Amino acid sequence: MYKNIFDTHAHYDDESFDSDRFELIGEMLNGSVCGVISCGCTVESSKKSLEFAERYPQFYAAVGIHPQNAAEENEDALEKIEELAHHEKAVAIGEIGLDYHYDYTPKDMQLEYFEKQILLAKKLDLPVIVHDREAHQDCVDLLLKHKPRGVMHCFSGSIETAKQLSDIGFYIGLGGSVTFKNAKKPAEVAAEIDISRLLLETDCPYMTPVPLRGKRNNSMLIAYTAEKIAELRNMHPQEVIDIARENAIKLFNIK
Ligand code: NI
Repeated sequence: MYKNIFDTHAHYDDESFDSDRFELIGEMLNGSVCGVISCGCTVESSKKSLEFAERYPQFYAAVGIHPQNAAEENEDALEKIEELAHHEKAVAIGEIGLDYHYDYTPKDMQLEYFEKQILLAKKLDLPVIVHDREAHQDCVDLLLKHKPRGVMHCFSGSIETAKQLSDIGFYIGLGGSVTFKNAKKPAEVAAEIDISRLLLETDCPYMTPVPLRGKRNNSMLIAYTAEKIAELRNMHPQEVIDIARENAIKLFNIK
């Protein structure tokens, strides 16, 4: 069994964990998992992320408004996020970004929320956790404009974009999609990026790696993602896990 898995992107407040959440987290933390960043998508889920972080020493919180949720939030949402971000276990602003696949939130509003939260992260000297779905160019443009510290989570862009981002010190978050047979780009990026820029993540309950694709994801299953990345890079999976953990500790300034 592996040790030291650091999951930089999880959603344990999701209802799919309602039946066994605390047993599952207990099993993870007694086993291969040493750290988890619980990501908020709304004011409410950001508060829940902080509750996990208060309950478990190994959990940390990201607080932020997800592009798909911005339209349903109250006008004072970003002020609330700023308050929550002052918590000692809030280590990032996220998950924030752009999602042009869905139109729950109009594009202008997504861009406004994204840019304001990048500026908030810079003001508080926190990294950002970025969601980009079918919005590569606008996302990269805003990141290159403001140059926050952070990670592009569940990276699905090209190797060229990955290099552009790592040149400004950005990290690349890879999860279950590197194991998917139909996803060539994530595997290519996993094989080629500078390993000092790599973070491992689940996005659980989603993005479960092969061979469990389709089932509910959890942080222990990062083992499959690490095995795939190790195979692509001719390394040992534990080495990939250890380096990714060190990278996470550095980016999120974990003491
Ligand atoms: Ni997510």
